[in-house]
Amino acid sequence: MKNPLQKEKALRYDVVIIGAGVAGLYAAIGLPKHLKVLVLSKSHPWECNTYYAQGGVTTAYNDADIPLHVSDTLEAGAGMCSRDAVQFMSEQSQKVIHDLMQRGFLFDTDTHGNLLYTQEAAHSRNRILHAGGDATGRYLHLFLLQQNPHPMLSNATVTDLLMEDDKCCGVEVFSEGSRKLIYANNVIIASGGVGSLYEYHTNSHAISADIHGICLEKGIALESMEMMQFHPTVFVSGSGARKLLLTEALRGEGAWIVDENGYRFLFEYDERGEMAPRDIVSRAIFDYKQRTSSPVYISCAHFDKEYFQGRFPNIYKALQDLGYNLPSERVPISPAFHYSIGGIKSDLEGRVPNTKGLYVIGEAACTGVHGANRLASNSLLEGLVFGKRVSETIVDSPATPCVGKFSLSTISLEMDEDKEKKDRLRRIMWDKVSIVRTQEGLNEALRVIEEMLNSEVGRLLKLRLLSARAIVESALKRNKSIGVHYITSA
Ligand code: SIN
Repeated sequence: MKNPLQKEKALRYDVVIIGAGVAGLYAAIGLPKHLKVLVLSKSHPWECNTYYAQGGVTTAYNDADIPLHVSDTLEAGAGMCSRDAVQFMSEQSQKVIHDLMQRGFLFDTDTHGNLLYTQEAAHSRNRILHAGGDATGRYLHLFLLQQNPHPMLSNATVTDLLMEDDKCCGVEVFSEGSRKLIYANNVIIASGGVGSLYEYHTNSHAISADIHGICLEKGIALESMEMMQFHPTVFVSGSGARKLLLTEALRGEGAWIVDENGYRFLFEYDERGEMAPRDIVSRAIFDYKQRTSSPVYISCAHFDKEYFQGRFPNIYKALQDLGYNLPSERVPISPAFHYSIGGIKSDLEGRVPNTKGLYVIGEAACTGVHGANRLASNSLLEGLVFGKRVSETIVDSPATPCVGKFSLSTISLEMDEDKEKKDRLRRIMWDKVSIVRTQEGLNEALRVIEEMLNSEVGRLLKLRLLSARAIVESALKRNKSIGVHYITSA
């Protein structure tokens, strides 16, 4: 791919988009071609959380389903969602799905061409569309890459925002061995969440909370950072930082969670069993493992083999490569970090409050749509709805000029001992700041993070540490359990 920076004299754009997942790409597609737009991808274009999303995209099934989709989202969110944000997302859902299909995106259908809607936990009806069986994210991502009319710069790590008082005037980026300034009238943050802060996670390796850290440095507010979501069914035994997700749609379509003896223990925790919201299922698995020392498995044994292979082809193949014969053979699972509900505070138009020219969408943002626990498959929908919204906001907003006075860090991006410290951070975040938290454990995590922040670290690790500290501090402030934030005195 050609490097768009090579042919530019002045690196000046109307819009720079940080991140090339569903939110960033759908925003790009919504921006007219006459605007000069640059999409930045930190690694290869497919290294983003969207690519790895399996289950699907939620949509209100029809107009009559909007109130039900809203109430399911509010209920899963444990009373902490912004009702306005949820209402807006649900009302827009059919429009964005229609737009994708008009553009030629193919969701899975039956042999008569009818859309297939699946079920996931805490949804009161089937309303989740999928593609490629269990490869919705990958199919959607490839499609959006093909639709994007604007240039993209890959392997470009954003190392700073060019802030002039409250105005964002562009980004500093590390690309092809050096740090460069790219000026822009508008900067959209669509950089995803915080996965690499945790030892066990389902996220792309490119997702490491750098931009959250930059925002903290600049005094830009993060919100609900204690709300970190753990997916209940992850195959964590594989090597590699990213662990294999086993989609919630498996349980939605009838998979069981069992112990060594085939006992479905989830019903001891919640009468909905496998269909309880994700936070409850994750906590139950975590607790049962600790209490009984029994391994926990997902069992798909009662699926028809042919149906399973057609409906979940990627999971079937990935686990076959690892030596599991599905659906007959059960697979050991554990919860793992999956999604950052908290993020950079955003309004319903995608603006970062109290700034000019700065926007945030997708997992990086905290719009309030997920409250204290995100409803399954609402994330791709959020990316689409707010990606579209921000493109409309930008088209309607006049640019504010910049003078060019920025203060930028000159610290090296990486230092020798960073790798070891990053691993220590991942371990302490998993041990003390994950599914079950205590004040004592959180304070210990804070002490370790402060110690590392006070040592010599490269800029990229510093940004991770700042984000991790924000998670721990938010968790310490909330001393009552709610949703994904579960804190005990033990
Ligand atoms: C899954 O397929 O279980 C993940 C979907 C989601 O994170 O909403």
